Amino acid sequence: MSKEIVVSGIRSTGYLHLGNYFGAIQNYIKMQENYNCYFFVADYHSLTTHPDPKDLKGNVFRVLAENIASGLDPEKVALYAQSDVPEIPELYLMLNMLAYKGELEKVPTFKEKVRLNPDNVNAGLLTYPVLMAADILIHKAVKVPVGKDQEQHLEMARNFAVRFNGRYGDFFPEPHVYRFSSDTVKIMSLDGEGKMSKSENVNATIYLSDADDLIKKKIMKAKTDSGPTEPNAEMPDYIKNLFVLMQMVSAPETTSHFRETYANCNVRYGDFKKQLAEDMVKFVAPIRDRAAELQQNEEYLRKILKMGAEKARESASKTIEGARKLIGINYY
Ligand code: TRP
Repeated sequence: MSKEIVVSGIRSTGYLHLGNYFGAIQNYIKMQENYNCYFFVADYHSLTTHPDPKDLKGNVFRVLAENIASGLDPEKVALYAQSDVPEIPELYLMLNMLAYKGELEKVPTFKEKVRLNPDNVNAGLLTYPVLMAADILIHKAVKVPVGKDQEQHLEMARNFAVRFNGRYGDFFPEPHVYRFSSDTVKIMSLDGEGKMSKSENVNATIYLSDADDLIKKKIMKAKTDSGPTEPNAEMPDYIKNLFVLMQMVSAPETTSHFRETYANCNVRYGDFKKQLAEDMVKFVAPIRDRAAELQQNEEYLRKILKMGAEKARESASKTIEGARKLIGINYY
């Protein structure tokens, strides 16, 4: 049986951090074994905020290098830049004719962007979900691994697929959010304020590019308290989060040792954090160094992009050909 098709887009803005690693990349790495995966850098999407042209290539190459260094295998998945697949903007144009201004204006992420940047309400921002639908439907994907914040966009992609099928004939399967296994962890910010995020509070976020000293410093500053006062006390979220991190990067015995000290009320947060910092450095350093090395090797990254674009275009051109015919663009 042929493998199910998976598509996911990687934002090209911001540096990758532990939240991305444990939330998304680790799942991509699991999926690459069992699915037909198309993973791409969403560089067109990033144009909605007009990044400096000088930065674009660096951003794309960096996320590419960081994802490969984390374990994404360009031989197993199609790893490409969105802008290298012209069939995507073509399908985007077709879908735009089926997308209504009213429904686009109602999208919460759009409303949020309007609120934050009232001076840059461009049409690309309004039609962001249409481009995203094109990214997905161009490969007739059925599974899309994305976070909660993208569920509304996925619903719109389904609507556009159904609308296209209703008007022109059955063509697109309906894509659904792929729920990462239920044990996917949420990584919270080290200050205990919300989730670890690209843009907020850089001091409470550990990036895959952070130097050893910086990682240590951030962990040593992580929020704790005066400790539990009764045996087997419930942990506050910010302590739980440190244990989650330890579980991801330390030996199981280490984690259970510190869990015991917590349960017995004799946990010493200083020692706990020192151990976590040490193990975190051991975990991040090889990824960081490999990503830096890859970024130096532009020739290699260009080769990956080319190879990915070829795989992606093979699938994309079939879809576009079919869509053109159904729409009636069928002149020769
Ligand atoms: N909008 C997604 C995000 O902000 C990125 C993205 C773009 C995407 N196109 C996609 C994700 C297609 C999944 C499928 O994270």
